[in-house]
Amino acid sequence: MLKKITAAAGVVLLSVLTACGSGDGGASSTNSGGSKDGITMGFAQVGAESGWRTANTKSIQDEAKAAGIDLKFSDGQQKQENQIKAIRSFIQQKVDVIAFSPVVETGWDAVLEEAKAANIPVILTDRAIDSDDESLYATFLGSDFVEEGRKAGKWLAENAGGPVNVVELQGTTGSAPANDRKKGFAETIASKPDIKVVASQTGDFTRSGGKQVMEAFLKSVPKIDVVYAHNDDMGLGAIEAIKAAGKVPGKDIRIITVDAVKDGMTALAAGEINYIVECSPLLGKQLMELAKKVVAGEQVPKRVVTEETTFTQEQAKAALPTRQY
Ligand code: AHR
Repeated sequence: MLKKITAAAGVVLLSVLTACGSGDGGASSTNSGGSKDGITMGFAQVGAESGWRTANTKSIQDEAKAAGIDLKFSDGQQKQENQIKAIRSFIQQKVDVIAFSPVVETGWDAVLEEAKAANIPVILTDRAIDSDDESLYATFLGSDFVEEGRKAGKWLAENAGGPVNVVELQGTTGSAPANDRKKGFAETIASKPDIKVVASQTGDFTRSGGKQVMEAFLKSVPKIDVVYAHNDDMGLGAIEAIKAAGKVPGKDIRIITVDAVKDGMTALAAGEINYIVECSPLLGKQLMELAKKVVAGEQVPKRVVTEETTFTQEQAKAALPTRQY
């Protein structure tokens, strides 16, 4: 049976530090910032599907430059085959370390075995893989997505105020954040018979996807009280659909999202979203620190969990002026 990467052993909690500077976010690029430590990293990004992803790419590009790591960056455009091709190309180029955020959880063993055979260490960042073989990667840096789903469910359990019908906008099918945020939320509301998830469909983590799915829900589901969106972008798309249907987001239909990017926080402060669970994209600094250690042959924890919070409307108003992304 496939074994999911969990936070079972060697878990450390590290604060996510603020990124600075700028990155080009292009499909493929190499840092020109020099390579003080002589390290070359191949990074296979998921794509550019959301505000979160844009901030994550910028953090990785900026922090590679700051750390003097030569970054070969590839944008997978949300396709596993593109990410696999990029990893194979990094192996051919004999990079020192490969890092990637797997678009989906399964189907990575073959290419990671190739990296292992070439003695190139692999770091998973942001999203996990589902594999029996933990020797295929050195460490996994990212959020606890199940816990994020639990936080969303806990807020609703405490604030439902009577029977509520929930529609769920899922992230990319087969991705770790979609699987885990669904699981954590379902687990938390399981003991609350008043809270019913009446429809659940993927919006692929995009604003347009969230809008389209919400439009369909508004036509087919007779009573919708709450939207649970697996990211801000889909929640923002749902807001457009709710307004177009003549309803008031945040009041007629309450909205819970995950991420806390600037656009999401702005909608939360304006009362159009009701609660946001934070998922930090600022993984660049920790990733570069881990990469240096891994390349030097030093011990690193198998799992590094990022530290995150949650935001109410009042907390969003206070946090917005200094929000980095
Ligand atoms: O893997 C992190 C998720 O991917 C973010 O929550 C979402 O916005 C992004 O697309």
